[in-house]
Amino acid sequence: MERLDKILANTGRWSRREVRELVRAGRVTVDGTVAAAADGKCDPAAAFAVDGVPISGERLVYLMLHKPAGLISATEDPQKATVLELLPPHLRRVGLFPAGRLDRDTEGLLLLTNDGPLAHRLLSPRWHVDKTYFVRTDGPLSEADRAAFAAGLVLEDGLRCLPARLELLKGDGALVTLQEGKYHQIKRMTAARGRRVVYLKRLSMGPLALDPALEPGQWRPLSEDERTALRAAAKNG
Ligand code: URA
Repeated sequence: MERLDKILANTGRWSRREVRELVRAGRVTVDGTVAAAADGKCDPAAAFAVDGVPISGERLVYLMLHKPAGLISATEDPQKATVLELLPPHLRRVGLFPAGRLDRDTEGLLLLTNDGPLAHRLLSPRWHVDKTYFVRTDGPLSEADRAAFAAGLVLEDGLRCLPARLELLKGDGALVTLQEGKYHQIKRMTAARGRRVVYLKRLSMGPLALDPALEPGQWRPLSEDERTALRAAAKNG
């Protein structure tokens, strides 16, 4: 037996707080009976419904992966190894895909999920979910580069980027924050300023920051707080 709020929150669709509100509003049924308390114990195999809509066994899964260089951000590829190969077999069968691609040689935060609508909103420029990268180039970036990024850079093929933040770090490298994710965007923006990227790592995506405890190649499920924050970012943007 498990707590009702835990069972429903584990589907990834609601936080425990949201489950409590749904239960309080009388919107949740367990085996056809309106649930009385969110902390009540239930059989996880019972039939659950919210607003009369059955909650199927299909689970929404959200994983944070520290992508290593050398793998492609795809679900399958005839030749090259994909990030999904880092996961155990049971997690390769639940329809996970990378929400926002990183190039093969890029490292860092990659969200793997089977929640298509959420991934779509996180990636759409309409929602302005910022993505921050650490970048090292083949020579120093300058104040003029910072201003050009902030103004909305025009790439060599004429494509105009949304304004981006470039923060020059003391010593080595810079942080770049994008509101969108065009193909090879940072490499092309850097090329438009006459520099070449030699190392690129994504550090964050909206409220989600790469867990420093994860080594390249390691992953973990998102916490309930992280899932709630992501959903809020994709709702309010
Ligand atoms: N910009 C790039 O050029 N590559 C990435 O992988 C991500 C952003």
